[in-house]
Amino acid sequence: MDIKDIEEKALYEIGNAGSVEELEAARVKYMGRKSELVKLLRSLKNLPVGERKRVGPKANELKEKLMEAVSEKRQELADFYTPKIDVTKPGERICAGHLHPLTQVYRRVRDIFSSMNFSVVDGPEIETEYYNFEALNIPADHPARDAWDTFWLRRSGLKAQDSKLRGSGRPLLRTHTSPMQVRYMESHNPPFQIIVPGRVFRYEATDASHEYNFYQVEGLAVGKDVNLAQLKYTIEVFLKRLFGQGIEFRFRPSYFPFTEPSIEVDIRLGGSKWLEMMGAGMVHRNVFDAARYSPDDVQGFAFGVGLDRLAMVKYGIPDIRLFYSGDLRFTRQF
Ligand code: DAH
Repeated sequence: MDIKDIEEKALYEIGNAGSVEELEAARVKYMGRKSELVKLLRSLKNLPVGERKRVGPKANELKEKLMEAVSEKRQELADFYTPKIDVTKPGERICAGHLHPLTQVYRRVRDIFSSMNFSVVDGPEIETEYYNFEALNIPADHPARDAWDTFWLRRSGLKAQDSKLRGSGRPLLRTHTSPMQVRYMESHNPPFQIIVPGRVFRYEATDASHEYNFYQVEGLAVGKDVNLAQLKYTIEVFLKRLFGQGIEFRFRPSYFPFTEPSIEVDIRLGGSKWLEMMGAGMVHRNVFDAARYSPDDVQGFAFGVGLDRLAMVKYGIPDIRLFYSGDLRFTRQF
């Protein structure tokens, strides 16, 4: 075999070695004591000078080349068989998330009303003046309709799907979930009972008890002879299940444009001070009129409760802004 042949075969076998053992076998075969290359190198001194000068450098060059090829291959095999996963490294702790306190309270509220046969209904956050105010018997001079209490929108600024919004007047971000009362009645016949959970908006400066964005749950039950006693019972069951059997109630006369009579519900926990919890009442006949129900044939009760307020009282949270702070030190406590 001449040098060229040795080179070709040796490089091929070295390059194709699939394990350290195979590589070592190839090394011994082509560079070991008994290999042709080594024999050749050893016999150089016996060659005539001319021959020695011709073959010597080539044989030495090949030896270097093969040594390099072997060490490269050795590295390659070592890299391949070194595990890339350090099984001794301690694991990273997986942070399991959990539900926001508002979501937790909402789910509880939903379950309580579901158990009393209320359906859950969704309504649009972008509303019209008509459904948010007019249809609910809120007159044009009511303070809530003041430019300063509501986020007003421009129809031209709405996305295509929202500009089809039913109802007259300027679009706005709903200031309460009550507009869904009339929307729902327009497309459903009594008897029914629904809750409408959702996000509402008020244009106001924030402080510990005010946010420009918060959550309400609206309730509406309509039927032939739905009455105030049923409203009182429903609210009592609801609040007792949420806060515990020991709470005390106070139903006070109040005023809302869309209910007559209207009441305000206060609760007291463990003898501490009275807390205003929610508004309610019997659906006003003008609201039934707006929904094209005949007010002499149906009666209904309605209520509205702030989810944030429920959660604050339930968990003793002192500042509504904490719900929206995104601060995990807060959220993790619940
Ligand atoms: N919409 C009222 C508010 O945002 C809450 C409310 C009060 C809703 C009485 C009702 C109700 O349905 O009967 O302040």
